[in-house]
Amino acid sequence: MAFITLMLSLIWPIASTGFLLSMTQDAMTAADRICEIFDTPETILDGPSRLERAQGRLTLDDVSFRYPDGDADVLRHLSLDIAPGETVALVGGTGSGKTTLTALVPRLADVTGGSIRIDGVDIRELEVANLRSIVATAFEDATLFSMSVRENLTLGRPEATDQEIWEAIEVAQAGFVRDLPWGLDTRIGEQGMSLSGGQRQRLALARAVLVRPRILVLDDTLSALDMETEALVESALRRVLVGVTAIVVAHRASTVLLADRVAMLQEGAITHVGTHAGLLATVPEYRELLSADYNAETAMGPGAEKGSGAETGPGSRTDSDTGEGESHE
Ligand SMILES: Nc1ncnc2c1ncn2[C@@H]1O[C@H](COP(=O)(O)OP(=O)(O)O)[C@@H](O)[C@H]1O
Ligand SMILES: [Mg+2]
Repeated sequence: MAFITLMLSLIWPIASTGFLLSMTQDAMTAADRICEIFDTPETILDGPSRLERAQGRLTLDDVSFRYPDGDADVLRHLSLDIAPGETVALVGGTGSGKTTLTALVPRLADVTGGSIRIDGVDIRELEVANLRSIVATAFEDATLFSMSVRENLTLGRPEATDQEIWEAIEVAQAGFVRDLPWGLDTRIGEQGMSLSGGQRQRLALARAVLVRPRILVLDDTLSALDMETEALVESALRRVLVGVTAIVVAHRASTVLLADRVAMLQEGAITHVGTHAGLLATVPEYRELLSADYNAETAMGPGAEKGSGAETGPGSRTDSDTGEGESHE
């Protein structure tokens, strides 16, 4: 009897030791990850110069890029000169290097060959904060932080007035903010209201527009929008793009039409530069990329959008559905 009592009283301590061990393991893993982040050497360092009144000429000069863990160049000897105020659409298949290229302009990473210049100044020569006040970006995977809509939008320009914020929201067709429980002060992100992929993209676009950048870089920022909303954003963007130098990654003809010129990217190299009509007429690969899009648009079939990380409802692309599980933090 005493033995059984002893056994029974031992079961709980033994079982809980197991719990404790597994919790300790989780904690160690978490601590490891935190240390990893703190230990990452800072590689993007301030340069000595500032550009006070940038014209916005953007020059890619023989740009190559290889990821630190990669064994081949992902971008190979790209050269492109974009005049102040000009809009260039970047078209290319999945994996051709579009996102990588757009990330180099605000120096989320540094080129590993050649240089990127603004008004003739190598961007590595600039203070990073100065560079990022000249260049604003919005990516397909919109990163929002766990804070209010207002705080998320004004990250790039904390002094923006409410009127300016609402103008940016208007351009990005993000009027849904008005219907959030606390409007601009609604907390979003991981610990707040969850937004759909399309809503997040529109906020990211509003954030970029609000900076009033000289150079605007949009990486597939409209991919999660339904076609009607996309058309509205595009017509508003057309006004914003006047006088702004822009690189717009595009999958659809309607987006390409915002641009003065189109650069086609294949396997990390710019293979063609021209007008939309010119490329359509002379480059079969270009025709293929955009006609796949054309078919998708007319058929509105499921999975019409290629490579977009956002949710896709059956039958049509929509951004009104809710509850997107993924998070990007
Ligand atoms: N963080 C990374 N590390 C290593 N390779 C990457 C990373 N991100 C992208 N790549 C590779 O770089 C190439 C270009 O990718 P990406 O710029 O995302 O293309 P796109 O935006 O045109 O689809 C692909 O081959 C991809 O596998
Ligand atoms: Mg991409």
